[in-house]
Amino acid sequence: MKLGGKVAVVTGAGSGIGAASAVRFAAEGARVICADINEAAAKKTAEAIEKAGGQALEVRADVTSAVDNQALVDQTLAAWNRLDIFYANAGVPQSPLPIESVDEATFDRIMAVNVKGVFLGIRAVVPVMKRQKSGVILVTGSTAGHRPRPGLQVYAGSKGMVASMAKGIALELAPHGIRVVTIAPVATETPMLPTFMGKTAVDAADREAFVKTVPMGRLNTPEDLANAALFLASDDAAMVTGTVFEVDGGRCI
Ligand SMILES: NC(=O)c1ccc[n+]([C@@H]2O[C@H](COP(=O)([O-])OP(=O)(O)OC[C@H]3O[C@@H](n4cnc5c(N)ncnc54)[C@H](O)[C@@H]3O)[C@@H](O)[C@H]2O)c1
Repeated sequence: MKLGGKVAVVTGAGSGIGAASAVRFAAEGARVICADINEAAAKKTAEAIEKAGGQALEVRADVTSAVDNQALVDQTLAAWNRLDIFYANAGVPQSPLPIESVDEATFDRIMAVNVKGVFLGIRAVVPVMKRQKSGVILVTGSTAGHRPRPGLQVYAGSKGMVASMAKGIALELAPHGIRVVTIAPVATETPMLPTFMGKTAVDAADREAFVKTVPMGRLNTPEDLANAALFLASDDAAMVTGTVFEVDGGRCI
């Protein structure tokens, strides 16, 4: 068991990458708090974990709220009295648009969830990890953060910002035994994917266009990310901090 005895909090755990990571962490022995703005979805993930013999609890939390982030930490400590792994994964996508057509509300929402949400979550968990003198913070960035696609400029900016913020925080927290890593996925088969293509569903031509940009010849599955998150959360990655860990089939080469 790679995460035996650990307590993990995963945001955006109701779907896609967050759900797969929560399940993977639990299968490796972690007790997992499945946090999501969609409580029913978080509950579904927690139930799947318990059905498989793991331990999980669901918490409704909007990552854009400082109050919800603190409540998430408080509920984690009330349940299991520690917090070893925080995976700031919740995020929202953008539909491709020329910059002059992007409205302020779109900018504000993407920054609120993808950037402020990560900041608020990390700020809430750090005092606990400092007390424990250990911890791992993972952030879901994106290859868009350093290899953007046209029309996704605000989303790309949000992911670039969390990657550089995570590097700064990694430096700050290294003396406390806390690692901080950004995971940068290429396009991943989750409910979010069609939005990046400006669609409500992905058709064969859309998929082909994205796949062509990935040297390994396919898109990510949520499990590809869960496997990477497991490695980075475990002691196998004890000397990995501050990096942007690409899970991209070679897209960023
Ligand atoms: N799917 C991709 O192609 C792709 C590629 C690169 C990076 N990412 C990133 O991966 C992360 C996970 O996305 P996914 O692909 O699994 O998408 P998804 O839509 O399957 O899951 C996102 C989850 O986040 C939750 N969420 C949204 N806003 C929230 C909020 N304010 N508070 C709490 N929870 C909230 C949603 O309810 C949902 O359960 C995101 O940060 C996304 O930007 C996705």
